[in-house]
Order: sequence, then C-alpha cells, then structure tokens
Amino acid sequence: MLLTQASHACLSRSGVLTISTIERTKRMNSVADARKIAKKVLPRVVFDYIDGGAEDEVTMSQNELAFREIALRPQMAVKMSEPILATSILGNQISFPVILAPCGLIQIMSPNGALASVRAANRCNTISTLSTVAGITPDQLSDEPGPRWFQLYAPNREIAQVLIEQAKAAGFSGLMVTVDTPALGKRERDLRNGVPSPLRLDTRSAISLGSQVLLRPNWTLRMVRAGIKFKMGTGDKNPISMQASPFTWEDISWIRSQWKESLLVKGILSDTDAKQAVQAGADAIVVSNHGGRQLEGAPASLRVLPQIVRSVEGNVEVLLDSGIRRGADVVKALCLGAKAVLIGRPYLYGLSAGGEQGVERILEVLKSEMTRTMILMGCPSIDQLNESWIQRQI
Ligand SMILES: Cc1cc2nc3c(=O)[nH]c(=O)nc-3n(C[C@H](O)[C@H](O)[C@H](O)COP(=O)(O)O)c2cc1C
Repeated sequence: MLLTQASHACLSRSGVLTISTIERTKRMNSVADARKIAKKVLPRVVFDYIDGGAEDEVTMSQNELAFREIALRPQMAVKMSEPILATSILGNQISFPVILAPCGLIQIMSPNGALASVRAANRCNTISTLSTVAGITPDQLSDEPGPRWFQLYAPNREIAQVLIEQAKAAGFSGLMVTVDTPALGKRERDLRNGVPSPLRLDTRSAISLGSQVLLRPNWTLRMVRAGIKFKMGTGDKNPISMQASPFTWEDISWIRSQWKESLLVKGILSDTDAKQAVQAGADAIVVSNHGGRQLEGAPASLRVLPQIVRSVEGNVEVLLDSGIRRGADVVKALCLGAKAVLIGRPYLYGLSAGGEQGVERILEVLKSEMTRTMILMGCPSIDQLNESWIQRQI
C-alpha cells in the first residue's frame, strides 16, 4: 500500500514506513509530546544521552519540581489584548524570552542539527547558542543571519584562544563561558549504554553500540546519509571531546580581555559566584545546574534565582535554565527576576522528532503557552512580572 504525503505518512527510500516530519511536528502540542516522539525515533543511547542526568537524577527532577511548587496569582476581569512578550537581551531584540541553550553532540540528534536549530531560532526571532562540542565548528554557521552565541569549553587558554578567534571570525555576537564543568558529571544512563569516556559518539562508537542503533533504522539511515561526521571546536587536528573545562575566575577575566562583545558566564548557583562573574567582567550570567547533568545534589536553579538576582544589583542581566517545560515556567522564572530563560532538552526533543520544524514547533508551543498564561493571569506585559504574581504552593 502506498501512502501519500496527504495522509502524512510516507515510505522512506529504504521502504520503511515512516510518519512524516510534518505529521510528527503537528502532534507536538507540548514538550512532553515531543519527548515521547523523540523516545520512539532515537536509538536508546541517543535518547538517554539527551534525557538523562547525573547519578540518581535528583537535581534533574528537582529542577522541574521547583516550578510546580510555585503558583500563579491571577488578576481577574482585566481588559486584555495580546500580551507583550518581546524583550531585549544584551542588546538583541527577541520576540519572546526563550533562548536555545548550548548542547553538545547536537549533530547526532538530527542531520545538521546545529544548523537546523540556528535557523529555527532565527525564524522565531530569538537567539541560539552553539556548544563547543556540538559537532561542528563555528565557521560552519558564519553565513546564518540573526544573533548567535558561542559557548566555550576549553582545557587550557591556548585552545580557548583558538576557539575565541573562530567565534569572532564567524560573527558570533555573544560568548558564553560554562564554569560548571571542571569534570564531567557521572551520567549513569550513558555508562549503562556503553557510551565511551570521554564522551563521544562517532562512527566507531556507533558500531560498538550496534543493536541499539539498528533498532532505529530510520535514524541510522538519515545519519549515514548525512555522513555522521563530527567536527569539534578547533577542528580535526585537535579534536575536543566532552571533557573537563577547568576555568578559574582569572581565566574568565583573561577571556574578557580577549572578547569585546557580550560575555555570559553559565553555571552560576550562588550569590558569591554571581558577584565574581560581575567582577570578572561578565555582561550576563546564566543561573544553571546544567539541567542536572553535572553536580548531583546541586540546588534547582529556580530556587537560587531570587538571591542571585538580588546580589548582582542590576549590574548584569540574569538568565536562567534547567527545568523549563511550559510557557508558565518561563513566566514564573521572570516573576523571580530572570530576564529570559534558556531551554535545552525541550528543543532537543523537538529537533530529534521533527528536525528544524520540530525546534520551531517547540518554540511556538512555549510562546503560545506563555501568551495564554499571561492572558489568564491578566498581565499585559512581561515587564510587569514580579514576585507579586506568584506564591509558594501549599
Ligand atoms: C544533551 C545535552 C547536551 C548539553 N551540552 C552542553 C554543552 O555542550 N555545554 C553547556 O554549557 N551546556 C550543555 N548542556 C546544558 C544545557 O546548555 C542547559 O544548561 C540545560 O539543558 C538546561 O536544562 P533543561 O534541559 O532542563 O532545559 C547540555 C544539555 C543537554 C540536555
């Protein structure tokens, strides 16, 4: 039986019946929907790499729980038009305060996953961040319009310098230095799945993961067609796999002297470190526990946000990530003082399920959830969000 595009299913070149990307994308009405689809289409090793956290995944689950502990306090019978979600982050006008976080090995989630994410973010008028270990080099995105940030990992200053020069030459307007990775978190799902350490997924390791990969022939074929070729950071001669990036505050000050555009420091969880980042010359900080993938036992980002916002006294912009799954979560983070949020897994699920359209869909879903939440709260603009709109859930 030949199924046509009209029925939103098709026969792939291999003859395997696949649901089309369009149909999959349409089925994503929430981040949770996208996660379910991603789980079905990805080899277990790839899904677990995205979905998992460190050790017992307590910090990871606390991230989401922290949002549920907060209730919204609506104002009823307010005359409302479309609420204003647009904002400016480090001088970039964006249509709503959700930015794509840097994610390593994004190229294994969908062919050209990094490019797909940059393009989706650009179409939705927001910013995307390329990880040092995404699997492509910064110059491969140099022709893409729209604001792009580059996330920096480096084992030493020599390599950091090379990467900074690459990011400059490729027109990245922000450098995000991640400070929570002096060692890699113990990700037990990856260990169980036999992912090699230091973490990498390339043709050789994919072969050793044979059965997991073969159970997902469509993913495997798409990857083989795309040539599963990875380029990390400085390029083939000096490949960087996922390993320690032991930056100190002196290194951050040195990076500041090398990079004139916006500098963000990601991985802040205390007011002391937030102040250190300000002193080192950061323009923005990202309150983040890396989505619960690094220090198991670290606090949920949302719970430490208010004290960090107070400590920096408006000297830097404060962003937050870890655990955002709904538009209402974005609203709660803004009520507690974040200027914008970053998402990791939500767009990776979208990317795995539907490529570029999948990322766009996730951004649209979060934006429309935010819009609805703001209307139901009777709040006309994100500028007006503050702690008076929330209370602790009892
Ligand atoms: C698969 C995956 C890879 C990641 N790789 C990086 C990375 O290379 N650099 C980095 O600073 N953070 C990385 N992160 C962390 C994200 O940037 C972000 O902090 C985190 O995903 C936010 O939590 P969330 O997934 O709950 O939204 C990664 C996260 C995931 C899920």
